[in-house]
Amino acid sequence: MHYVGFAELAAAVSNAGGPGIITGLTQKTPALLAEEIVRCRALTDRPFGLNLTFLPTLSSPDYPGYIRAIVDGDVKAVETAGNNPQKWLPMLHEAGVKVIHKCTSVRHSLKAEAIGCDAVSVDGFECGGHPGEDDIPNFILLPRAADELKIPFVASGGMADGRSLVAALALGAEGMNMGTRFITTKEAPVHQNVNIMLDGAMDAGAWSCGMVAGLIHDIPTVKALIDRIMVEAEQIIEQRLARCAAVG
Ligand SMILES: Cc1cc2nc3c(=O)[nH]c(=O)nc-3n(C[C@H](O)[C@H](O)[C@H](O)COP(=O)(O)O)c2cc1C
Repeated sequence: MHYVGFAELAAAVSNAGGPGIITGLTQKTPALLAEEIVRCRALTDRPFGLNLTFLPTLSSPDYPGYIRAIVDGDVKAVETAGNNPQKWLPMLHEAGVKVIHKCTSVRHSLKAEAIGCDAVSVDGFECGGHPGEDDIPNFILLPRAADELKIPFVASGGMADGRSLVAALALGAEGMNMGTRFITTKEAPVHQNVNIMLDGAMDAGAWSCGMVAGLIHDIPTVKALIDRIMVEAEQIIEQRLARCAAVG
């Protein structure tokens, strides 16, 4: 997440069982990204990933430089987004980096699979950030992706709690990706008014977020949030769903 995915938040997510993701282009140069990777490594000994977004810009960022920083920094997973990552796959794969490409449609997900991406992050229309151009929400998009994809995928967009996780698994995903929900945590590097806005009210100003803001009612630490999600998900599976299965 641009201007949110710094080392502190990524490390907090990884320390809580994540993995967290550093936003590559928030670092203005490859050298700064290399420093951010070192900072993250000092904050966690667990794996973390890195987002590299290929959006059309007037002056293209130094993508080869960013990829060198990723490889030299021994980051093992990259989330690509915004455009076809094919050109960069050989460099990443030769270095043993897994590539998970973020897609807002089934056809883009299939293309990602065909060009050799290792996994897909399927982003429904609910998502924060750039929702693509197909406008398909996750209740339709995820099962369609499950029907067609052979590579694994995570559900992204509108995910907030244990219910989201169980639903994502039921719809065929291997897990879930959260953006907006992590902005409203103690470790997110945002002004407290943004936290308060997502949690209820902000008098003025603008901030990019997803519709899932409607499900956010508190500002926990990342660890408290992830622990709560796991407890909720287990309770739903072991109690509510087990009762449903027993009735059947
Ligand atoms: C403030 C903000 C900035 C974001 N910046 C990026 C970005 O630079 N690159 C990217 O691939 N996705 C970006 N995203 C999208 C998130 O990575 C993620 O896919 C999305 O937030 C998931 O939906 P959710 O917000 O409903 O959890 C951003 C999202 C937000 C809310």
